[in-house]
Amino acid sequence: MTRTIVVTGGGTGIGKAIAATFAAQGDSVVITGRRIEPLKEASAELGDRVSVAVCDGTDPHQVGEFAQGLTGPVDVLVNCAGGNTDFDRDPADGLAALAENWRVNLESNLISAVLMTAALDDRLASGGTVVHIGSIAADKGAGAYGAAKAGLASWNIQLAAQLGPRGITANVVAPGYIADTEFFRDKLTDERRDSLIAAAATGRAGVPDDIAAAVAFLASPGARQLTAQVIAVNGGEWPTR
Ligand SMILES: NC(=O)c1ccc[n+]([C@@H]2O[C@H](COP(=O)([O-])OP(=O)(O)OC[C@H]3O[C@@H](n4cnc5c(N)ncnc54)[C@H](OP(=O)(O)O)[C@@H]3O)[C@@H](O)[C@H]2O)c1
Repeated sequence: MTRTIVVTGGGTGIGKAIAATFAAQGDSVVITGRRIEPLKEASAELGDRVSVAVCDGTDPHQVGEFAQGLTGPVDVLVNCAGGNTDFDRDPADGLAALAENWRVNLESNLISAVLMTAALDDRLASGGTVVHIGSIAADKGAGAYGAAKAGLASWNIQLAAQLGPRGITANVVAPGYIADTEFFRDKLTDERRDSLIAAAATGRAGVPDDIAAAVAFLASPGARQLTAQVIAVNGGEWPTR
């Protein structure tokens, strides 16, 4: 049966790879983002199974309208939209700017996932799954961005308990360094990239397909007892016991 998949932030990078993986499995995928151009380009590349919707995930009104515009149940929701908004902003000078920079990061990475999950809550199908894209930054620490991703993992524990009785799982996939995305803008120096790669036991950068494979597994029949967890996909850069 064709499933319906929603991938926020699906026009580029990791979200686009996730959309491609589900589309290749025969699912129907809706990708969202704020910019129409990357969404159109992704849809043209990935084919008819992928449709697009412009939606700023931090705007409750836009998220509500997006949810109303969808037809039928949603089998898989992937909250992938986000990124470290500090890359796009001037360093905070004064408390007001500091507060604003933190709010933007929390809204981009945490509030956006909370809003979309709430908006689609009554549409989530039994047997389905919700996956949030977290980050290794939640464990290593990275200012507001790391705190926002850590918040995702904490909130997800409650979400999994709420959705479990309805036959729905909820997890976080936490990537390490993933190349071939717009994440770092133009701020990643060669030295920093080399050090991130050297820190991985695999000795390579992650790629968007590494994350897409983990998300696809969480949405598969073999993962029905796997919920309320953070799945690290970081090449061993940040080990767990
Ligand atoms: N790349 C890495 O090394 C890495 C590591 C750990 C975690 N992550 C996480 O992985 C996720 C995907 O990032 P990426 O690496 O694939 O970078 P990316 O290419 O910059 O993708 C981020 C996507 O999110 C969308 N987005 C951002 N803010 C949004 C908003 N308010 N509403 C709707 N869409 C929004 C962007 O599209 P628009 O700009 O058009 O809205 C973009 O398509 C993010 O949550 C990021 O924090 C990435």
